[in-house]
Amino acid sequence: MTVPSHRTASPHRPVPSHEPVLDVRNLRVEYGGDGRSVVGADDVSFTIGAGEIFGLAGESGCGKSTVANAVMRLLKPPAHITAGSVLFNGRDVLAMDPRELRAFRWREIAMVFQSAMNSLNPVLTIGEQIGDIFTTHERMRKRQARARAGELLELVGIDSARLKAYPHQLSGGMRQRVVIAMAVALKPTLLIMDEPTTALDVVVQQEIMAQIGDLQRELGFSVLFITHDMSLMVELSHRMGVMYGGRLVELAAAKELFAQPLHPYTQALMNAFPPLTGPRVELTGLADAPRTEHGCGFHAHCPDDRSDCSTNIPDLREVAAGRFVARTGGGAR
Ligand SMILES: Nc1ncnc2c1ncn2[C@@H]1O[C@H](COP(=O)(O)OP(=O)(O)OP(=O)(O)O)[C@@H](O)[C@H]1O
Ligand SMILES: [Mg+2]
Repeated sequence: MTVPSHRTASPHRPVPSHEPVLDVRNLRVEYGGDGRSVVGADDVSFTIGAGEIFGLAGESGCGKSTVANAVMRLLKPPAHITAGSVLFNGRDVLAMDPRELRAFRWREIAMVFQSAMNSLNPVLTIGEQIGDIFTTHERMRKRQARARAGELLELVGIDSARLKAYPHQLSGGMRQRVVIAMAVALKPTLLIMDEPTTALDVVVQQEIMAQIGDLQRELGFSVLFITHDMSLMVELSHRMGVMYGGRLVELAAAKELFAQPLHPYTQALMNAFPPLTGPRVELTGLADAPRTEHGCGFHAHCPDDRSDCSTNIPDLREVAAGRFVARTGGGAR
């Protein structure tokens, strides 16, 4: 399989053509052992360029968090990375020892976790929690750390007077902004955001997404953005990949993929969301994604009449410049 490159940027949001910051190749993660393992991610390959926002979409359980946690080296048993590589600025992340990992996490790659807004410490003020990052990692004095914490809060649109607030005194949206501020505190090269707005209402979600876009433009970091919401993803991402049953089934410039999805699963995923405007349409459900070693999990629901898909999983291949799809028929509609 050709490893998809970040150089195929969306014509709408051009990406600087630098070497990839993140290069994930043929990544496979299994949960469990003794021949009874579940494959959480399989043969996942993608790159993220400097300043690029790369989206990873797909239904619950398709392997998005597994990929993110593998990149951060946060997987714990029963999870094992059983194949593939993760390179960050050319460095082998999977070979890093604990000391290297401590220096690497948060400074080079930071992550906003799924449901992160509930992970703030309830007995510490926002100022103390943000300040701790600077006193711990940058050995700053408390006063200076507090000043930096105030600047960070302002950066995510919260008045620095709120430094004295406890998490329960803030709305969900504000707590999520605080978590985002903490993630960018040490100016990471790559920010991973795992469903950063899922628990929030649509209006707050939109505000936070706009904020993330502004922050990205200001600080210039790359983003791995994870969501199951395709319309949210296309607004923010330059390129995106769609996962199904642990595998990437489609990868392309976000706007191209959104305008013309090539994989039948991507088409089904997009049809599962009601459009906010226009006439009423009937929504179609999505089929289960059974993990299978033999054959494509979507085979039974696929319009392509390809009997070999019941025994072989189609590889992700480039069908047009920068457009990758795992479809035996070549992805033509
Ligand atoms: N701790 C675990 N033990 C066993 N299997 C797991 C574990 N965590 C994940 N899995 C398996 O890996 C698959 C992928 O899970 P993952 O959490 O990566 O999905 P996801 O795409 O992030 O889903 P969601 O949108 O719900 O967060 C799951 O379907 C499950 O089968
Ligand atoms: Mg997840």
